[in-house]
Amino acid sequence: MSLLFLCPTKDPAPWLAGIKAVDPDIDVQVWPDISHPDDVSFALLWQHPHDVFTRFKNLKAIASLGAGIDHILQDPTIPRHLPVARIVDPNLVASMTQYVVTAVLHSFRDFDLYKQQQTTQTWRPAAPRNIADFPVGIMGMGMLGSDAAQALAALGFTVYGWRRSGPAHPALEASFAGEAMLPAFLEKTRILVCLLPLTTATRGILNTDVFSRLQPNAYLINVARGAHVVDSDLLEALGNGSLQGACLDVFNEEPLPADHPFWRHPQITVTPHVASITNPQTAAVQVVENYHRANAGQPLLHAVDLGREY
Ligand code: GLV
Repeated sequence: MSLLFLCPTKDPAPWLAGIKAVDPDIDVQVWPDISHPDDVSFALLWQHPHDVFTRFKNLKAIASLGAGIDHILQDPTIPRHLPVARIVDPNLVASMTQYVVTAVLHSFRDFDLYKQQQTTQTWRPAAPRNIADFPVGIMGMGMLGSDAAQALAALGFTVYGWRRSGPAHPALEASFAGEAMLPAFLEKTRILVCLLPLTTATRGILNTDVFSRLQPNAYLINVARGAHVVDSDLLEALGNGSLQGACLDVFNEEPLPADHPFWRHPQITVTPHVASITNPQTAAVQVVENYHRANAGQPLLHAVDLGREY
């Protein structure tokens, strides 16, 4: 039995240390140095090269190295009969909430304006703002969205939630579900936070139609996936005033190409996909547990349904 670390864009060292700290006896093979492919029974994936699974005839299960599984689904050669798990870690939830709260406060407290004024040594305090004028709308009310909603409500924000289906979270002022209720949700929202999984239905959802329905001087925070955004629609919305600004952590192409207009846009804050990164130290425990479960033919922790796409 062997665990395959198939994450070419990640440094394997902290993962190897984390996995070995939990179980020193696990045999780990790090892509592309595979010396005994037939022993591979469990693969940990992040932005893996496609078309490699024919090499691993005895693979029993797959795990995403993050919370999302969209990177796995993008590979048409993935062995779809195998169980797939994702990472569920309280640290991921906490760091996402920290990021979302920071970005919401950045917009509400007008940091873009003061940063701009600083470039010309301008001392011009703006009129105090009323938190009631900055309702936040969260798209995607899973574990991450619910935690962010709770933290923002505790700070005094009015928070609305939109999800595909499911019950309302108690921190929400109101909850909206399904495509039919999306316009009503957007009309209530000034600061829009995207925490949706990337699926066939949500790809390109942050587009002109959505931006134009938001309250005036709206602000976008995207911490989900770059492919939720239609980049040209976002630039247009910033240009025509439907959006006042945006804070983006994820991009259609990562790393964001040097010549991409988002880099230099005065109304856009760019961060390099850091909102919530899996911590190898804490996440290794569930990876090791799932490795043993897969080898024993037991159901995985945090298993996902590939058909549902998240
Ligand atoms: C990060 O983007 C993740 O999916 O964990």
